[in-house]
Amino acid sequence: MENNNIPISPIAVAPMMNWTDRHERYFLRQISRNVKLYSEMITCGAILRGDKDRLLSFSPGENPLALQIGGIDKSELSECARIGEDYGYDEINLNVGCPSDRVQSGNFGACLMATPDLVANAVNAMASAVNIPVTVKHRIAINDQEEWDSLFRFVEVVSTAGCRHFIVHARKALLDGLSAKENREVPPLRYELVYRLKEEFPNLSVTINGGITNLDSAEEHLCYVDGVMLGRAVYSEPYLLSEVDNRFFGEDRKNISRHEILESFLPYVEKSVGEGVPLKSIGRHLFGLFNGQPGARSWRRLLSEQLPKFNENPTEALKLLRSAANMVHCSNKFDVAA
Ligand SMILES: Cc1cc2nc3c(=O)[nH]c(=O)nc-3n(C[C@H](O)[C@H](O)[C@H](O)COP(=O)(O)O)c2cc1C
Repeated sequence: MENNNIPISPIAVAPMMNWTDRHERYFLRQISRNVKLYSEMITCGAILRGDKDRLLSFSPGENPLALQIGGIDKSELSECARIGEDYGYDEINLNVGCPSDRVQSGNFGACLMATPDLVANAVNAMASAVNIPVTVKHRIAINDQEEWDSLFRFVEVVSTAGCRHFIVHARKALLDGLSAKENREVPPLRYELVYRLKEEFPNLSVTINGGITNLDSAEEHLCYVDGVMLGRAVYSEPYLLSEVDNRFFGEDRKNISRHEILESFLPYVEKSVGEGVPLKSIGRHLFGLFNGQPGARSWRRLLSEQLPKFNENPTEALKLLRSAANMVHCSNKFDVAA
């Protein structure tokens, strides 16, 4: 069970369905050795009845890595937590934040904010099944719940069940009438409630998430909470992570360039394509690498129009990527306009 002796990663990359798959995570790992990465949400049903290797296996070097699970049945969740631990994940995270219709119809995700006791039971079962931390990612409230009361009570109840680390997406989820995308944009961000949560529960670890787009803001948040989780900003501008190891993890490394990142990722591309992974599935995660730099548009065009044609010829695909990258001229600093 996680306690305060276990350090919380000051910076983490959010779980994002369809985005933080294993290829994306391996790519981000070339940029930061330390940032904590989260898988996409995988449901209990998929883990228990689907192709476990396809869903759960990952490459050496991806750790520190958390598996995010969606579900509510406590025996299924504890079984999935155990499976995740066996696969080598460092943390099991329960999703109590997803507002999508599909997830709501399974009675899990954000709607569980209304039933902290159920979540506590599930967390208790999961924490008893594994030796790695079980954490929860959640909203501050849903629908017409009063925000502070709901957040406080949720954490009060769930923390008694073995969760010592709460990751809070600092806005409500409105489960009727807003799409999942709108629920990431429309309800206002209430960072001050997350700071207050940490004040009220100093012995718990609190990570803040939602709308944080640069490392200066992340550093400010870290005056009030233990960790910052970044989602869309990292996906669209992965080079944002290039300063994280030195700035937040006490390393003293030469700043890596975008071209060096690409070069260190190419052996993975070659190996994966050799194993039958379509180039499109990997190339789509590279779109943002040169964002803001002169030539970035041609880079993106090449990734979408040319790269997929080289599935049968990984060597040529690498040549193409190298020559396309050479057309982009950029500095090593993270200097993209916000
Ligand atoms: C495409 C996409 C997929 C997402 N999938 C998940 C998910 O599987 N599990 C989860 O807890 N949150 C998911 N989220 C929400 C993010 O984890 C995060 O809470 C949200 O984007 C707010 O953080 P940000 O403003 O830094 O992006 C997703 C977000 C996006 C954009």
